[in-house]
Amino acid sequence: MAICQMEGSGLGSARFTKMAVSFLIAFFLLYMLSLVYRSSTFDLIGGFSRAIGTGEMAGNDTGASVSEDKRSSQPERVAVDKLLGGLLAAGFDEESCIFISAADLTLNPYNRTLEELSSGHVNGTTDCSYVVWTPANGLGNRIISMASSFLYALLTNRVLLVDLGSDMAGVFCEPFPNTSWLLPVDFPLSNQFYGLRSGNDHSYGHLLWKNNMNISAVSQPPPFLYLYLSYNYDDYDKLFYKDQNQGFLQNVPWLILKSDQYFAPYLFLIPSFQEELGQIIS
Ligand SMILES: *[C@@H]1O[C@H](CO)[C@@H](O)[C@H](O)[C@H]1NC(C)=O
Ligand SMILES: *[C@@H]1O[C@H](CO)[C@@H](O)[C@H](O)[C@H]1NC(C)=O
Ligand SMILES: *[C@@H]1O[C@H](CO)[C@@H](O)[C@H](O)[C@H]1NC(C)=O
Ligand SMILES: *[C@@H]1O[C@H](CO)[C@@H](O)[C@H](O)[C@H]1NC(C)=O
Ligand SMILES: *[C@@H]1O[C@H](CO)[C@@H](O)[C@H](O)[C@H]1NC(C)=O
Repeated sequence: MAICQMEGSGLGSARFTKMAVSFLIAFFLLYMLSLVYRSSTFDLIGGFSRAIGTGEMAGNDTGASVSEDKRSSQPERVAVDKLLGGLLAAGFDEESCIFISAADLTLNPYNRTLEELSSGHVNGTTDCSYVVWTPANGLGNRIISMASSFLYALLTNRVLLVDLGSDMAGVFCEPFPNTSWLLPVDFPLSNQFYGLRSGNDHSYGHLLWKNNMNISAVSQPPPFLYLYLSYNYDDYDKLFYKDQNQGFLQNVPWLILKSDQYFAPYLFLIPSFQEELGQIIS
């Protein structure tokens, strides 16, 4: 509870300064890019050469140079990483960030919100709501949709959790020390993510379609909804961007988001976000 209130109000305009939040978004993108670059170029090259069978030589060479590179730069990297290579000011207060600590994840807010998922209806007593980002398409698509989801989480006071799956393990590091933004592996809906596509029975688009696009006809919010925002989404999925459809989502504790797009600009078209966006990015 404490952790969520910290996140919720901390991300509103009051306690978080404009500067800090806009910085966070810019930094988030930059940092992820740098991590991708640092941790995966060599591995990707090595893996790639092995995968296309360019011979053992290439694989062995790459392996050797990676471990050498890691060993020689390790002490430097620890110092550099603490302040993220100078991106953060020395007094940066990581407590005030959106990310939850790994220990807190196993404590009440997450579990209680999870209970709503298993009970099948929203209790209204949970303190936290979540955006669960799921991967779609290539690495570039994933980075831009992840950054957009981060902005959406900020705007809606949600906690962002990411499902990196197995193919991206090790590509992204944890953004902050002692915190985790990884979706716990035993998350009940994880096995459905892969097949998630437009028109899914549990998608917001489908719910709107079923109710003739009149969301106020839905009395009971579901414990979770899929937001399908990939390039091939249908007209009903797109209704997510209509201002009058955003309010309903506030009562849905779990939003499972799948997108391969940089959808952040669309968020600027939603009038109810504009004030907060103005404070975040100005
Ligand atoms: C590559 O490494 C493997 C295992 O370490 C070794 O058996 C093999 O001889 C190496 N190949 C070359 C070309 O160095
Ligand atoms: C919360 O859920 C996690 C993961 O399922 C579990 O490991 C942990 O023990 C739970 N904590 C509580 C307080 O129930
Ligand atoms: C609502 O949540 C409270 C506290 O977690 C719990 O005691 C109660 O049984 C829940 N009610 C329903 C209908 O799930
Ligand atoms: C991370 O957690 C460990 C163990 O709980 C603690 O010793 C360490 O100081 C923490 N580091 C930071 C940066 O909070
Ligand atoms: C939407 O549904 C609500 C509640 O059922 C109803 O009062 C309202 O008239 C409907 N609006 C339209 C445009 O159909």
